[in-house]
Amino acid sequence: MATFIADSAVTLAAAFFLVAMAAYIGLLALREAVATRADHVTIAVEQALLRERISEIADRRRRELEKAERTWDGFRKFVIARKELEARDTRSFYLEPHDRRPLPSFLPGQYLTFRLPVSDSPKPVIRCYSLSDAPKPDYFRVTIKRIGPPPNNPDGPPGVSSSYFHDELEPGDIVDVKAPAGQFFLDLADASSAVLIGGGIGLTPVLSMLNAIVENGGGRDVWFFYGVRNRTEHAFAEHLKTIASEHPEIRLHICYSDPTAEDVAGEHYQHAERVSVDLMKRLLPSNAHHFYMCGPPPMMKTVVEDLLAWGVPQDRIHHEAFGPASVKSAAAPAAESVGNSNIEVTFTRADKRIAWDGRSTLLEVAEANGIRMDFGCRSGNCGTCLTALKSGDVKYPSPPGCSVEKGSCLACIALPGSNVTIDA
Ligand SMILES: Cc1cc2nc3c(=O)[nH]c(=O)nc-3n(C[C@H](O)[C@H](O)[C@H](O)COP(=O)(O)OP(=O)(O)OC[C@H]3O[C@@H](n4cnc5c(N)ncnc54)[C@H](O)[C@@H]3O)c2cc1C
Ligand code: FES
Repeated sequence: MATFIADSAVTLAAAFFLVAMAAYIGLLALREAVATRADHVTIAVEQALLRERISEIADRRRRELEKAERTWDGFRKFVIARKELEARDTRSFYLEPHDRRPLPSFLPGQYLTFRLPVSDSPKPVIRCYSLSDAPKPDYFRVTIKRIGPPPNNPDGPPGVSSSYFHDELEPGDIVDVKAPAGQFFLDLADASSAVLIGGGIGLTPVLSMLNAIVENGGGRDVWFFYGVRNRTEHAFAEHLKTIASEHPEIRLHICYSDPTAEDVAGEHYQHAERVSVDLMKRLLPSNAHHFYMCGPPPMMKTVVEDLLAWGVPQDRIHHEAFGPASVKSAAAPAAESVGNSNIEVTFTRADKRIAWDGRSTLLEVAEANGIRMDFGCRSGNCGTCLTALKSGDVKYPSPPGCSVEKGSCLACIALPGSNVTIDA
């Protein structure tokens, strides 16, 4: 409703402006009828400028309307059009809009949020997956790694959502998807050199960035580091090879941490080591680049810390974690008070007041005390845990990836900054 009113107001304002401009052109025409020769030239110039301005405004409005028509609020239905194996336990899913209307563009690096009707789950499961291709008008692609049971408990449950994608979803099935979102993206208008770093399935957002650079005509200096254990995990191998062979300005560095006897150095991979800043120091001409990275928490933490130590300014290090508790300690200020914090969290619905331990997020405080709160990504991206903040302040160790309305907080990443009362 609010969007409709805002849209109508903009349309009305634009219409009013166009009518006013048309009236002004009419007045100029009247002036022209009684003008001297010198005046004629001035009036003609004014008229041309005005026509140009009107056409610019009409164009901008048309583009805004097109954009508003293509994007969407809430969830939209998508059909699984194709499902392709990219590496062991890693599959791409091609999603086409069920309503067949064109798709909005997105910024390479952004992700989609899914709502999945997993049969054993009492509620739909919410998860985020990065877009793994450049923006296309007719499909989105995500690439998903199957998550097994926890390593310390082989009999434990495998990942709910990734298993659902791999085992249950087939071409023709329909899923609910939110519009692309996220603050981790590549600015395509900036032509400066970029170092793209993907570790394991963290390849997906940086692959989208690479594909977008290539589709934009290339010509931008790129160092692409991709770290996996060996060829069994190496996704999009042929695609990456083709890009590197066609674009000399894109330097591909595949790192195998544990190559097998069949893996051939120089053909399947370039470096038998992990992706590290030491390796970058050996290969990059300097540290003067923007660094974009996504990967497993230990790799991200080390690389971010080592880039900072190498003198790369923090605002040139862009990263995304695929889950909670990743690189916060290296790239973002830690929670100020740790230990006995003297801060209390009040949950109004549960009617509980709990002493904060100085480090847990509001969601973790709730869970530790038997209070149920909705969550999806647990990393400040999907907005599922958005909760009304009735009093007090919260802090975010790293900026939320989705918008947070005034008077609300993202419980999965929020730390209390004072005594807080939340609607849970
Ligand atoms: C912005 C963003 C982008 C992402 N992009 C991608 C992407 O492009 N590709 C991709 O593959 N992933 C991506 N992810 C990760 C993805 O969202 C999921 O977190 C991932 O697929 C795991 O979800 P799951 O439901 O399969 O696992 P979950 O069910 O959440 O389980 C995860 C782990 O916890 C264990 N576990 C679950 N329940 C319990 C329990 N009760 N006790 C003990 N252990 C338990 C499971 O065994 C498993 O090992 C992204 C995440 C974010 C936030
Ligand atoms: S659970 Fe996704 S933002 Fe909190």
